[in-house]
Amino acid sequence: PEVGRSRPHESAALHVAGAAPYIDDLPELAGTLHAALGLSPIAHGRLLAIDRAALQALPGVVEVLSAADLPGANQCGPIVHDEPILATDTVHYLGQPVFAVIARTREAARRAAAQAAKVLQLEPLPAVLKAREAHAQGLHVIPSMTLQRESAPGALDAALAAAPHRLAGQFQLGGQEQFYLEGQISYACPTENRGLRVHCSTQHPSEMQHTIAHALGWQAHQVQVECRRMGGGFGGKESQSAVFACVAAVAAVRLGRPVKLRVDRDDDFMITGRRHGFDFDYAVGHDAEGRVLAAEVTMISNAGWSADLSGPVMTRALCHFDNAYWLPEVRMHGHSARTNTQSNTAFRGFGGPQGALAIEVILDSIARRLGRDPLEVRRANFYGLGERNLTPYGQTVEDNVIAALVDQLVADSDYLARRAAVADFNAGSPVLKKGLALTPVKFGISFNVKQFNQAGALVHLYTDGSVLVNHGGTEMGQGLNTKVAQVVAEELGIAFERVRVTATDTQKVANTSATAASTGSDLNGKAAQDAARQLRERLVPIAAAQLAVDPAALRFVADAVHGGGRSLPFPALVKAAYLERVQLWSDGHYATPGLHWNRETLQGRSFYYYAYGAAVSEVLVDTLSGEHRLLRADLLHDVGRSLNPALDIGQIEGAYVQGYGWLSSEELVWHPQTGKLLTHAPSTYKIPTATDVPPVFRTRLFENANVEDSIHRSKAVGEPPLLLPFSAFLAIRDAVSAVGGHRIDPPLRAPATPEAVLDAIDAVRAAA
Ligand code: MTE
Ligand code: MOS
Repeated sequence: PEVGRSRPHESAALHVAGAAPYIDDLPELAGTLHAALGLSPIAHGRLLAIDRAALQALPGVVEVLSAADLPGANQCGPIVHDEPILATDTVHYLGQPVFAVIARTREAARRAAAQAAKVLQLEPLPAVLKAREAHAQGLHVIPSMTLQRESAPGALDAALAAAPHRLAGQFQLGGQEQFYLEGQISYACPTENRGLRVHCSTQHPSEMQHTIAHALGWQAHQVQVECRRMGGGFGGKESQSAVFACVAAVAAVRLGRPVKLRVDRDDDFMITGRRHGFDFDYAVGHDAEGRVLAAEVTMISNAGWSADLSGPVMTRALCHFDNAYWLPEVRMHGHSARTNTQSNTAFRGFGGPQGALAIEVILDSIARRLGRDPLEVRRANFYGLGERNLTPYGQTVEDNVIAALVDQLVADSDYLARRAAVADFNAGSPVLKKGLALTPVKFGISFNVKQFNQAGALVHLYTDGSVLVNHGGTEMGQGLNTKVAQVVAEELGIAFERVRVTATDTQKVANTSATAASTGSDLNGKAAQDAARQLRERLVPIAAAQLAVDPAALRFVADAVHGGGRSLPFPALVKAAYLERVQLWSDGHYATPGLHWNRETLQGRSFYYYAYGAAVSEVLVDTLSGEHRLLRADLLHDVGRSLNPALDIGQIEGAYVQGYGWLSSEELVWHPQTGKLLTHAPSTYKIPTATDVPPVFRTRLFENANVEDSIHRSKAVGEPPLLLPFSAFLAIRDAVSAVGGHRIDPPLRAPATPEAVLDAIDAVRAAA
């Protein structure tokens, strides 16, 4: 069977040969102009004037655009309309696009745009850079939320007060840059009769289409958005490709020339937002075994200057604070603080990792205070089977495999023996300390906005038996097109090589959802399957006639249709169907069943199902320098019945390393006075590289089938494994704890940079 088979990514050979075209590789049309954005040089201020004449006089400059030049809506906020494409009377962060220069070359455009500080007349206003400060001043991008569940009114406070043990504290974790290898880019080309084709590196072509149409004051049908592939998106191209798409589009239409806008890495950092950093205040009551009896947590996210996706990110954070644990009484507050920094957005996990890391740190602290192994405390708190299984948002956990999965990982990774070995090592090693940790993952799959959970596809059968597939999802390296092609090949019983998936195109499948929330293959796989199934059903009567058998006896496998001991090759069947005037193309559609969500009460069935996983990580920390090395990682992850194990393992390993970077080395620093992001290039912002991958890295898929009727009973894989490297962070925490003989709970913030580790070691030593 095709589904379940390990196949390389459909473009793998092109990727490694440098032959897979990204947008900047497309041949440029004659007359193409280049745009660059002029950015605010201050974090907050009133915009008084732009010296356009000075810009216009610079070499190569063709046009200068500012807010007033936009023919339609100067707006690209995806949910709340609080985000001008180009700044109007106020600038809200250092890096905000204020004007665009269109020039004959990219170089000329960038040189002119770099004059921003000289040509902008600004009156500075006080800036707020830190989320806690903004929250204290009542500055938020959306109303704050509370999600709570009590067994009876007042039960939470009573349980907190009556608990045998109480723990209260704070935790801080940083944001993360997506660092897609292909930066943000759009190339807009006018077409006939007031039309526009935009090549855009985006996870959300339909939203780009609509935002561009609004900015132009056009109808949606005038705008075509196409994306063949992205060199990574990771959430950063869900909403935030819009400003680039809109500026290129408006310039192209105004000048009647193709316009390309490609930002370089530094500008990408300065303009776009990223994963939200979070601050937590918590209070928990627990028993002597470490079982949580009641918990109250306040989450403050750094939303940046506008709402963007901060609302749903906070909702997902609140809905993942439980992670894999039953919390009998719980109250969570979510505040999305407005600061004068880049507007933070989607990033793999979409708030889920932030919420879940908080409970993992809390459980780790509980274990240390009780002198227990953190794994035992985790197990004591796991969701149960048939009881202790209701999430704080009112969804029953029906597919829980966490205990079995963790048992298997404990055995496979030799956790208990290694725990003893680490203790032995540390007893004889005063400077180098080892740490070990196991953490679980439960991650909910679906968008919590109902209408996003749908997809469409279009499948063409050509008379030579080849198949062309188009669907609403986008390819960003995750292998979605490969999986969808496998699903279609399986449905028609044909060779994989017969199927080709084309670029995502708003002219083919309309009103698509963002490829996000890990739902790409769940939704588009089902939609393409639906289309392919209809085609197969149309071929059945033809095949039955050709083979002279009962339709019920037909089987579509091995590149042919079989029945009555005879078979007909697939191309011959398609040809016969064509001669009989059968429609040989079909659309398909899918809508995830059973979802409902109340945005006011934050209750409902938010997720179709959960994906599970667990990881064990082992680290070696140098307590003099604060540096560490990851020695070994064992991952066990649930992808249901895998559509493609090779791609899934790639996603799991990639997510682990990406999350490990977030929690250990990727640090964002804004200048405390000017608000300038200082870490805006790989020279100062350190993502993990091949040498940071642990030398022993074992990834296995957990044997499990999705209990829900997902595409071939698989499970989404894109985001959930990003939570696996919590184990690396907590292993570092374990090593730091060893400095104090595990008697002091180490106050380690994330990311666990050498500075953060040394601060935590100092605190442990001071308290010891
Ligand atoms: N993998 C690669 N190689 N590149 C990416 O940009 N994005 C991640 C994940 N894996 C990403 C990736 C994110 S944030 C999501 S939501 C999913 O892929 C989206 O794709 P899917 O829904 O098809 O899994
Ligand atoms: Mo992924 S953060 O949902 O694009």
